[in-house]
Amino acid sequence: MKLLVTGGSGFIGSNFVLYWIDKYPEDQIINLDKLTYAGNPDNLKGIENNQNYRFVKGDICDKNLVDSLIKEVDLVVHFAAESHVDRSIHDSAPFIQTNIVGTHVLLESSLKYKIKRFHHISTDEVFGELPLASKEKFNEKTPYNPRSPYAASKAASDHLVRVFNITYGLPVTISNCSNNFGPYQFPEKLISLTITNILEGKKVPIYGNGKQIRDWLYVTDHITAIDLILKKGRIGETYFIGASGNDVSNIDVIKQILSMMGETLKQIEFVKDRPGHDRRYAIDWSKIKRDLGWQPQYNFTQALSTTVDWYKKNTDWWQKIKSGEFKEYYQMQYKD
Ligand code: NAD
Ligand code: DAU
Repeated sequence: MKLLVTGGSGFIGSNFVLYWIDKYPEDQIINLDKLTYAGNPDNLKGIENNQNYRFVKGDICDKNLVDSLIKEVDLVVHFAAESHVDRSIHDSAPFIQTNIVGTHVLLESSLKYKIKRFHHISTDEVFGELPLASKEKFNEKTPYNPRSPYAASKAASDHLVRVFNITYGLPVTISNCSNNFGPYQFPEKLISLTITNILEGKKVPIYGNGKQIRDWLYVTDHITAIDLILKKGRIGETYFIGASGNDVSNIDVIKQILSMMGETLKQIEFVKDRPGHDRRYAIDWSKIKRDLGWQPQYNFTQALSTTVDWYKKNTDWWQKIKSGEFKEYYQMQYKD
């Protein structure tokens, strides 16, 4: 089988490519990635010379390039996106371009070349927020209610993917998952930023009162779910992927990391809140369990500890990132 993976040099995409090459060594993978600030060729250094892996630097909005690649493959696994909420608040334009226009280009090309499966990676953020003091969870029937430019652009892409199935019969599947964490996560997101700031001896910024809750999913659990959906998922279906009771407030996540790293609460700095900050996300993943037999395997505290160790061992990886464009971003984001 031949796969086109978009955004394979980003956090989840590179974890997926490494997993797939290892588990299905006979398959061929083309990774189409623009290498934006978030794309990092270092993530895939170990397989650069694998004869079943090919990297193409390019934009998913480039129709000719996308056509030339899609005509070679059996299926498309679409990770490429602008993915950071705070950046979408500063400038939404790249989010509209990549997440909506880029997805549309991929869909048109997939239809033209009769691709066997188009799998779209999406997020729980498209469903808005849940109240803090409730047990409610998002499920496949929850109405869309995006509350940031990032979430709105992902919601639009989900609608397009679904419509290409309903209107044109394109064989699609969609997965919406909760907050991922693990190795190779760009150090702008809460967990990767916290760990690397501590390693640098810097303060850890918490937005607002830190009581917001996320449903933390270890990246490997996410990848195994995608694998199952690609192998056994039903065409036209959406599957929700979430963690196992890992609904932890931001302040508690940071406290756990500080304690694992032998630091005190003095490292915490409360900073200006994110505009439109979603209070809580939580995923009901009973459908994928019932239909495909998937369930998360990783315990939050153990996976967090593995992640802390990974960042401790891979200082070159994140120091290189933090010394570049990231400095300007950090200054702009946390100046107040
Ligand atoms: P990321 O920001 O780490 O990586 C995105 C990758 O896409 C980068 O390699 C980047 O270079 C590439 N890219 C961006 N624009 C492109 C373009 N126009 N053409 C080609 N490549 C382009 O993102 P991530 O955290 O790995 O997220 C991957 C996918 O998973 C996204 O679709 C995101 O919406 C979704 N998702 C992420 C999370 C999470 O917690 N990280 C949770 C739910 C869903
Ligand atoms: O839920 C899935 C989504 O998870 C994905 O679709 C997004 O691509 C991914 O970025 C992530 O979005 P969040 O906004 O939830 O993740 P982030 O790591 O940016 O923030 C997690 C929580 O931590 C959120 O409540 C905001 C807070 N936060 C974040 C940062 C970066 C802070 O308090 N301080 C910070 O410095």
